[in-house]
Amino acid sequence: MNEFTDRYGRYALIAGASEGVGACFARALAEKGLDLVLVSRSDAKLAPLADEIRTRSGRDVRYLALDLSDPASLEKIKSQTSNLEVGTLIYNAGAETRPHTPMVDGDLAWYRYLVALNVTGPLVLAHYFGGKLKARGRGAIVLVGSLGGCCGSFGNLVYGATKAFEHTLAEGLWSELEPHGVHVAGLILGLTDTPALRRNRPQIDFSHAMKPEAIVSSVLERLDEGPILFPEGVETLAEKIMKLPRRPIVEDARERIRQFYKGKT
Ligand SMILES: NC(=O)c1ccc[n+]([C@@H]2O[C@H](COP(=O)([O-])OP(=O)(O)OC[C@H]3O[C@@H](n4cnc5c(N)ncnc54)[C@H](OP(=O)(O)O)[C@@H]3O)[C@@H](O)[C@H]2O)c1
Repeated sequence: MNEFTDRYGRYALIAGASEGVGACFARALAEKGLDLVLVSRSDAKLAPLADEIRTRSGRDVRYLALDLSDPASLEKIKSQTSNLEVGTLIYNAGAETRPHTPMVDGDLAWYRYLVALNVTGPLVLAHYFGGKLKARGRGAIVLVGSLGGCCGSFGNLVYGATKAFEHTLAEGLWSELEPHGVHVAGLILGLTDTPALRRNRPQIDFSHAMKPEAIVSSVLERLDEGPILFPEGVETLAEKIMKLPRRPIVEDARERIRQFYKGKT
C-alpha cells in the first residue's frame, strides 16, 4: 500500500482501455500499484495488454470485451465488478471516428451511437461508481473530454455536444463529490496522437499532437485539481474559446475546421 493506492485503489476501471490514452492510464495506474479492470470492444487488443501489464507490474489485471454503447454492457460492468473495490473510474472511450458531415445530412443512427457512448455510458458508470466512492469517502473519476466540446463544431457537432455533456457532468460531479473526498475531473484534450485518430484521420499532421504518455503522467499528479484538467497548452486555447462571444468563435471554428479538413474527408 502507498499514498496513491490508499487514495485511489484498489481497482481502477478504465472504459476504453485497449490503446492510446486509455492504455497509458492502465500502464501508469498499475505502476502506481492499482489493480485494473480494462474495458473495450476488442478481446484481441485487451488480452495482450492485460498480459503485458500483469507481467510488468505484478498487479491483478482483468478485462471485459464489451461495447460501451450497449446498455447491457454497462449492466455487465456493474455485475462483473460488484465484488471488487473500484476506487478509480476513467471513462476514455468516445472519439468521433466518421468523416465530418453536416448534421442534417448525417446518419442519425451514428449520432445515437455517440450519445450512447459519450452521454449514457459516463452517466451510468459515474452514477454507479460515484455512489460507491462517495460512501467510501475517497477515489477518483476522470471523464475524457475534448476541445470539440467547448464550441459547436462544424461537421462534428454531435460529437462536440456529447463531449460538452461530459465536461458539465464532470463539473457538477466534482461539486457534489469533492466535499466527500472524491476527486473528479473532466480532462479536456486537444489533438492527441492516438492509434484511433491515426486510423480515422490519416491525413492529419501529427507533428504537433500531444502524446498520451505525457498527458497521463501529468494528470495522475493532479487528480485533486478538478473539476477540469487541461494538458499543457490546451488551457489557453480552451479559455479563449470559452471567453469569446459565441458567434465569432463558432464562425472562426467553422472556418478553421473547413481549412483543416479541406479536401481530406
Ligand atoms: N485523439 C484525439 O486527438 C482526441 C482529441 C480530443 C479528445 N479526445 C478524446 O480522447 C478519448 C480517446 O480517443 P482516441 O483517439 O483514443 O479514440 P477512441 O476511439 O475513443 O479509442 C479509445 C479506446 O476506446 C475504445 N472504444 C472505442 N469505442 C468503444 C466502444 N463503443 N465500446 C468500448 N470501447 C470503445 C477503443 O478500443 P476498441 O476500438 O477496441 O473498442 C480504445 O481502447 C476520447 O474520449 C476522445 O473523445 C481525443
